[in-house]
Amino acid sequence: MAQKEHWDSRTAFILAAIGSAIGLGNIWRFPYIAYKYGGGAFLIPYFVALFTAGIPLLILEFALGHRTEKSAPYAFGTFKTSWKWAGWLAVFVGFGIVTYYAVIMAWSFDYFVYSFKLSWGTNPGNFFYPKFLQLSHNPFQIGGLRGVIILGLVGTWVWIYFSIIKGAKSVGKVVYVTVIVPWIVLLVLFVRGITLPGAQEGLRYFLTPNFSALKDPAVWFNAYSQIFFTLSIGFGVMIAYASFLPRKSDIINNAFIIALSNCVTSFIGGLTVFSTLGYLAYQKGVAVSSVVAKGPGLAFITYPTVINLFPFAQPFFGAIFFLMLLTLGIDSAFSLVEAFSAAAADKWKIRRPLLNGIISGIAFLIGLLFTTRSGLYWLDIFDHYLANYGLVIAALLEAIFVGYIIGPERLRKYANQLSDFSIGKWWTFMIKIIIPITLIWVIIWNIKDEIKIPYSGYTKGALGIGLLFLGLLFIMSFIFSKERSK
Ligand code: PHE
Repeated sequence: MAQKEHWDSRTAFILAAIGSAIGLGNIWRFPYIAYKYGGGAFLIPYFVALFTAGIPLLILEFALGHRTEKSAPYAFGTFKTSWKWAGWLAVFVGFGIVTYYAVIMAWSFDYFVYSFKLSWGTNPGNFFYPKFLQLSHNPFQIGGLRGVIILGLVGTWVWIYFSIIKGAKSVGKVVYVTVIVPWIVLLVLFVRGITLPGAQEGLRYFLTPNFSALKDPAVWFNAYSQIFFTLSIGFGVMIAYASFLPRKSDIINNAFIIALSNCVTSFIGGLTVFSTLGYLAYQKGVAVSSVVAKGPGLAFITYPTVINLFPFAQPFFGAIFFLMLLTLGIDSAFSLVEAFSAAAADKWKIRRPLLNGIISGIAFLIGLLFTTRSGLYWLDIFDHYLANYGLVIAALLEAIFVGYIIGPERLRKYANQLSDFSIGKWWTFMIKIIIPITLIWVIIWNIKDEIKIPYSGYTKGALGIGLLFLGLLFIMSFIFSKERSK
């Protein structure tokens, strides 16, 4: 067996963890979720979720991974074998998510190529749905596979596979490029965005708080799940990454640096998208809230719109932007595969390259569903069940596990003794009381609402399939947590 892997330096770890956190979640998911759930209405729950759940759980995952030096299921299992399944659930949810995450990367791949000729034309919305996706009318009208998207998907998986093949060490190097370059590109787009006519209206929509929206359970649910998604919490990823840390490593500082820089990035992504929405609304003479469809397609309409508006070298900026999206996505995608394969390697002692190949292959096959003409609907439905329910449940279990099984004080002392600055009893309070209560409340409140009004108007049949997939992940985690020999 190879020796336990380690990061080359503290910076490599921070960059890898930031690399995992910052991804399509910031540039693609955050803006459309914020748009769908009311712009400014979304921001309050979002920041509440960041400080009361996001950062505390990030510290928890780092401490747990560092302390046990194991992947999620085995980190749980170290303390209590019967809880291993909760760790498996986390990595399975991550696996489910990477199946469609890679498809968004595939779209970006195609758009990267399209940029050279600005193939999306003068109206990117009219290009994206009818020409690029050739979107069918409902989820069950599958309508065949889209060749260009499959090509992009193959490219994406090959790239992911080769990026992780060498494990922690190679991740450490790749991320220097994949974290820093995107930041510069995003800033350029941001500046173009906010200088467009109408931008102010868009920004107002994004930044004006709306207190009455706080009564909507879906807003809270999506704020929590977006925080977990964006910080890569509840997937076992940060547990696995922290397990590669050298014995003397600051945990608390790192958690703050990572969480804050991540959310600043989302915020800039949001400012760029919303200023563009303001511009589009201004042009069409309609309200910002109704200017384009509220869904996963948003980024593929707004960013090409900004790119079209560059005074010169549009293809260059277009290509750079989509390349950036890919480089941002890649380290997030491979961290998801890593978390799963770290767990599987702890279980079976199979060689990593083979494992990664198997995982990538299966994820690719499942992803084909999202490359059909009805793919966007399925992507939306799967995201709803996995990122909302799956993820929030995984994070809830994590908090309960540490809060009531292993005892948060123990972990808090452990983290404090390693770190430059210490966390107080408030942390324990969050883990034991606040997080479990809020998450349970948010889940129940949402289920109640959803029984009355089906998610986004989909039929019961379509939603049932999403739910079934989530159920399957639960079953798989139970099966995987059973050890035959040892
Ligand atoms: N945090 C990543 C993003 O925002 C997504 C991700 C989730 C990556 C979980 C790894 C693990 O894009």
